[in-house]
Amino acid sequence: MIKQTVAFRFKDEVDETTRAAILAELAEFPGRYPDMKNFSLGRNISSREKNMTHTFMFEFADEAALRAYLESESHERFVRERWRPVIETQSIVALEVEGEPSRTETAVSTAPSRPRGPYGFAFARLGVPDLAKSIEFYTYHVGLQLEGHDDTYAQLRSNVAHHDIELVADPSLTEFDSQTLAFTVESDEVLDDLARRLKDDGRELGELHPRTKAACRNGFSVKDPNGQTLELITDFHVYAEPPLLEWRPVDLVHPFLSTPHYEESQRFYMEVLGFLPSDYIVSDRRGASSFIRCEDRYHHSLALRRDDSYYVAHLCFRMKSLDHVLRGRTKAIYKDVPIPSDIVNHSASTSIAFYMYDPTHGPRIELCDGHRVFTPEEHETHKPRYMSADPRNIDVWRAAADDWERF
Ligand SMILES: [Fe+2]
Repeated sequence: MIKQTVAFRFKDEVDETTRAAILAELAEFPGRYPDMKNFSLGRNISSREKNMTHTFMFEFADEAALRAYLESESHERFVRERWRPVIETQSIVALEVEGEPSRTETAVSTAPSRPRGPYGFAFARLGVPDLAKSIEFYTYHVGLQLEGHDDTYAQLRSNVAHHDIELVADPSLTEFDSQTLAFTVESDEVLDDLARRLKDDGRELGELHPRTKAACRNGFSVKDPNGQTLELITDFHVYAEPPLLEWRPVDLVHPFLSTPHYEESQRFYMEVLGFLPSDYIVSDRRGASSFIRCEDRYHHSLALRRDDSYYVAHLCFRMKSLDHVLRGRTKAIYKDVPIPSDIVNHSASTSIAFYMYDPTHGPRIELCDGHRVFTPEEHETHKPRYMSADPRNIDVWRAAADDWERF
């Protein structure tokens, strides 16, 4: 039998829609050419050979069958009209081996054929008016451990990641200022692809903050449609051990952004950056929200809500258990930290949480007991739900459709 491999690179200027259309057409080849066996297609993931973006491979019983495919009118037309205009370079190799094609399944790698999004939410950099007081808030009320700091900044962490919150002293402020939201990216290939997609969208890429640069291997900054600075980074530094604290979060899960540029933000985060939609709360007089996810498969690593102005509405930390959430709640009550939204049961992400808020330290802080994580298969196939703007879709413990008051 003949085994053949085609490795290829799309021209840089070919947009994602066209790439997806070509890949979808290739995936139909085994149906179009029934003698083609054991077809596989996907993005090139080799760490050694990075010139080729994709590859597909297949088998034919003999050379005559291969030639019949290559010389068919439909294949020649595909190559002439669809393939050559978008392919920068290709490399085709074939070999003859003993035996017959053993299987007839086809394997199309769906995950790599879509543009990859960032991996997950890394940290928030917040300007605060009183650094010492904010350090006290994040250590006592959120359970973070203070790491690198001086009179001008402080980095605090919940787990092994380098930090979750970076506070920057700015005595001119009366309330917090959200300076940067950082997301991790799983590889340099994905980082390069994100940079290309952002440039294609007309975005200007900038340098990382020096302290971010010191805590990762690679990355860049970019502004979202709200003017919010984002940093996208690879290999965010980690500690060998989590903090030796019994009461602490285990992860920083998501920021929630309120925005007057809702549709543009949806387009930017989903179509350009590759976040995937998990659920939508559809628009009515109460507004609209989108819960969107990164490659870490949390139900949402970012949420967007339509509003009159832009602000980071909350940051969500996942605690070890409901017990730890309630310990945080009693600490907040004990020290008179306002709780604008008390214990809620989020149906969308199956988590029980409460929110505390002191704007001199940062956005609302959500402490939750867990957060739904999609399986790899759900991550590729999930169809977002469209939910009405009903309080019971935000908190399943609400009594009725008009029970808005506690949120
Ligand atoms: Fe949240």
